[in-house]
Amino acid sequence: LAAVWGAPIRHSASPAMHNAALAALDLDWRYLACEVAPEELAVALEGARVMGFCGVNLTVPHKRLALGMMDDLDVSAEAWGAVNTVVFEAENAEGVWTPIGLLRSFPGPVRLRGYNTDADAILRSLREDLHMEPRGARVLLLGAGGAGRAAALRLADEGVETLWLQNRTESKAAELAAEIAERFPAVDVRTGLPDSDVEFILNATSSGLKPEDPLPLDIQAYPLSHADAVYDMIYRPAETPLLRAAQAAGCRTANGLGMLLYQGAAAFELWTQRPAPIEVMRAALIHEVYGTGESQ
Ligand code: ATR
Repeated sequence: LAAVWGAPIRHSASPAMHNAALAALDLDWRYLACEVAPEELAVALEGARVMGFCGVNLTVPHKRLALGMMDDLDVSAEAWGAVNTVVFEAENAEGVWTPIGLLRSFPGPVRLRGYNTDADAILRSLREDLHMEPRGARVLLLGAGGAGRAAALRLADEGVETLWLQNRTESKAAELAAEIAERFPAVDVRTGLPDSDVEFILNATSSGLKPEDPLPLDIQAYPLSHADAVYDMIYRPAETPLLRAAQAAGCRTANGLGMLLYQGAAAFELWTQRPAPIEVMRAALIHEVYGTGESQ
């Protein structure tokens, strides 16, 4: 078993993507979606450990919370400050920690190893889907939760010129800005809204998942026409109100389907140690998100 956990989770296209990949590789696995509240995350992880889960993806609002719940963190989770992929491992006959999906039996203990596959996925999707090169760019990033933090740190590492961090809870943006200033002194990092045009705006908040959500940006205070492009990590609905407003303002836009695909492919490879069938996964996602006539 593998699964994605979050709250809310009903919108998730991860089961369609992963089950298609598992079927293509003829693996006898199943990938589920489970609604898990943040206060139940620790007990859910313990349950998965004793039930022999092979892997879990974490989404809103678990990515930061999970950092302190792993037995071991990969450098990706340490560097980007959030966990979106958990690999359950046990020792093989030679005493080497191995993903349990590869083991027939594992009498010893199971450990949870946390990875971040989001950070590289967002860069790849920005380049492929938005034709956007982060190096030297001015960027407005909305959100300072797990996904926002990983994106901010990865963009800083990639050499953005100026990064504005805007978050509903201002103290979280300030905390993240301080970390970036210390780790990436070449990046001009600020909080609040830009005082100039930007190359792109990246929405890493969860605002837009539900129909009643407000726009994650005050577009009176910062009109979208100040940006060349807008990327929304949300992929369902495929066109969020933010993306609709961005298109009306003449921006290039992309939703988070590409990011979902690449973070999922990397997670799949960690769990199965097999090359992910990317085109199968992409086709399953497109069918799930655009092909069923349901966009909510
Ligand atoms: P994830 O792990 O997926 O990043 P998260 O850590 O809960 O999830 O982060 C959610 C992000 O969306 C946060 O930046 C949150 O803002 P707060 O830090 O103020 O909570 C943001 N967010 C959620 N709902 C929002 C809303 N209605 N308007 C603006 N921002 C919102």
